Amino acid sequence: MRTVTTRAELEQSLAQLPRPVALVPTMGALHAGHVALIAAARRAAATVVVSVFVNPRQFANAADVARYPRTLASDQQLAEAAGADLLFTPDADQIYPPNEPVAMIEPGPLATRLEGASRPGHFTGVATVVSRLFDLVRPNEAYFGAKDAQQVRVIEWMAAQRSDQISIHRVTTVRDGDGLALSSRNQMLSASGRVAAAKTIPVALSLIAEAYASGVTSVAMLRTLAERVITAEPSVTLDYLDFAESATLVPLSESAQIGDAAPGEVLVSLAAVVDGVRLIDAITLP
Ligand code: PAF
Repeated sequence: MRTVTTRAELEQSLAQLPRPVALVPTMGALHAGHVALIAAARRAAATVVVSVFVNPRQFANAADVARYPRTLASDQQLAEAAGADLLFTPDADQIYPPNEPVAMIEPGPLATRLEGASRPGHFTGVATVVSRLFDLVRPNEAYFGAKDAQQVRVIEWMAAQRSDQISIHRVTTVRDGDGLALSSRNQMLSASGRVAAAKTIPVALSLIAEAYASGVTSVAMLRTLAERVITAEPSVTLDYLDFAESATLVPLSESAQIGDAAPGEVLVSLAAVVDGVRLIDAITLP
């Protein structure tokens, strides 16, 4: 695996690598969740490119950018072991050259609720950086984690606006033994925060999945079951527990029955703050 940092080096390397090309965009601090994305890309494409770029335009402030974990040496090892051919680790000037205007991509209604409500501008930053990575890498396909369900919908929408027909793949969430979805943010939790997160967030979602599988379809009842678990843990603050149509992210009403209200899958997404660390997780109900 080669590591390149500039647009010119990227261009040169891509010219020597076979197509189809799969891109796995990341912000580094790679873990087994990213490894699953790289492995899925490896199975599908002749060339796998992994990008590592902590995108300042998707954070609310410079302090959050600064405290984002940076683990390049271990990222290189993990990406190579998972089968990547090329690691692209640009600095901000390569992605946003100072002399080039940045056309910000506004994803519209998909980006206004859920994470978009708590983090205004976040998905504009995500859509813009991924679009720039698409311009530079020119992949045939790209891989994203299902945990970040709203992000994947926004990226699917952005990709559909482009003319280059990049296929977007959603890879199943990887969980630790305690059920917590893998996230680079988990590293910021204290030991007690970690335990509190694991015994609430995935448990609440599992309770919803199990109750739904056994025939409970009322949004209000499913919500009550899940919220009980979260509110029992004082160190965990629930930001939202949301039931929405997966495709549109339009919320279901409290009186809705899943299946009656929405065609297709229902997305159940949850955000909670533990130890000052915001964690998200999601499942879909068929
Ligand atoms: O999910 C992430 O790591 C980031 O939001 C992404 C997609 C790499 C864009 O910066």
